[in-house]
Amino acid sequence: MSKLDDLFAFLSIPSVSAVESHAADVDKCADFLVNKLTSIGFNAVKHKTDIHPIVVAHSPKVEGKPTVLIYGHYDVMPVDPLAEWESAPFTPTVRDGRIFARGASDDKGEIMAHILGVEAIIREQGSLPLNVIFLLEGEEERGSTSLYEFMRRPEAKQLLACDVIVVSDTGMAAPDIPSFSYGLKGLCCFELEVSGPAMDLHSGVFGGSVANPITTLCEMIATTHDANNHITVEGFYDGVSEIAEWERESWRRVPGMSDAELAQLTGVPELRTERGYTGAECVYARPTLELNGISGGYEGEGSKTVIPTHALAKMSCRLVPGQDPVAVMHKVKAHFEKVCPPSVRMKFTMQHSGEAYLCDPHSAYGKAAQQALEETFGNPPVLVREGGSIPIIAEISKVLGKDALFLGMDLPDARIHSPNENMRVEIFEKGITMAKNLLLRMSNI
Ligand code: BES
Ligand code: MN
Ligand code: MN
Repeated sequence: MSKLDDLFAFLSIPSVSAVESHAADVDKCADFLVNKLTSIGFNAVKHKTDIHPIVVAHSPKVEGKPTVLIYGHYDVMPVDPLAEWESAPFTPTVRDGRIFARGASDDKGEIMAHILGVEAIIREQGSLPLNVIFLLEGEEERGSTSLYEFMRRPEAKQLLACDVIVVSDTGMAAPDIPSFSYGLKGLCCFELEVSGPAMDLHSGVFGGSVANPITTLCEMIATTHDANNHITVEGFYDGVSEIAEWERESWRRVPGMSDAELAQLTGVPELRTERGYTGAECVYARPTLELNGISGGYEGEGSKTVIPTHALAKMSCRLVPGQDPVAVMHKVKAHFEKVCPPSVRMKFTMQHSGEAYLCDPHSAYGKAAQQALEETFGNPPVLVREGGSIPIIAEISKVLGKDALFLGMDLPDARIHSPNENMRVEIFEKGITMAKNLLLRMSNI
């Protein structure tokens, strides 16, 4: 049996957590993991929740040895726009040395690499030289509601007690340059709706006499940044620390992350960063306030001369350590209330949020992780923080009182969340070796 068979079976299950009609598939995916983990000797349990199940699996107890908790999520993002996929998203296909499928890099490839790494040790040595717990959730891509609830259950602390948390659901600099990350950004999501007239108005009959909700929404949003691209919301930067000199130094050398390379990779004519910071510094360690979508008025074919009733902006902030996500949302709301003119009404809706995460990369487990990466990929890892978020990690780390270490396997061209998501076969295979090397090194701590 090829190493890819297990991964392909896993990738074939359309476990889209956000889409109600896929609920049975998400459940089936949890069963698949329970079966696979049971087959390699783990005690694997599917825990029911109000939304999607959580899989927790323990290896046979080895006294006097450390316990490593491996976190992953088996749910995936929706596949649309479907027409952009070159092969069907849930029919894993190898082309040009890459496995194409939804979830290939986010996060099923990583989960399976860890499982197969464990399986290889058991095959070669008869048993594991330490304790391993898999914690696999089915709601990461929709906010981890059930895992937050699960972590608050009194039995969670004991069930998941460990010495270190390992996560591979993060980025990797280049195929031969691994990344060791010691931080994640926090996140808060919200919507701002601006409304005016009770019905769409003829823009000639009433034009010039009432505020246009789209214009007003844009004006309000334009007040959130100054000319230096600094966020003007009062108190927004409260608690934010400056980037350490060693970090700036280290980040200057990350392959692919120079300002010129970032512009090239993203396809923009030039970067637009916060003044005084490089692109990499902004990505890794500066908080942002972004528009994710804006709508309102006539968006159909041709033209229609109306003043629309309302306009809506979907927004989110990426946060850094020291910022409280809910407090930030209150500050942003207060900002919009301050700049909202009396000619319109506004409605601010808070959505899900989660804290940033940061730990010391130089702990004993951190060093073992860095050695495992170097041993596997042939080069020492770059030390970075992630621009992305896995909001539940801060909570898991807090409840269990242990560090989370990130040994990511998402390359910049993996197209996570996009059509044609992929993982290089080579990275998947090295991921298995990395998982193995990591556990063997950690068993000696
Ligand atoms: N695996 C990603 C986060 C990630 C990707 C971190 C690449 C670092 C590098 C995760 O599945 C994700 O997509 N998180 C969401 C947040 C979630 C609440 C929807 C994000 O960052 O937007
Ligand atoms: Mn992920
Ligand atoms: Mn994701």
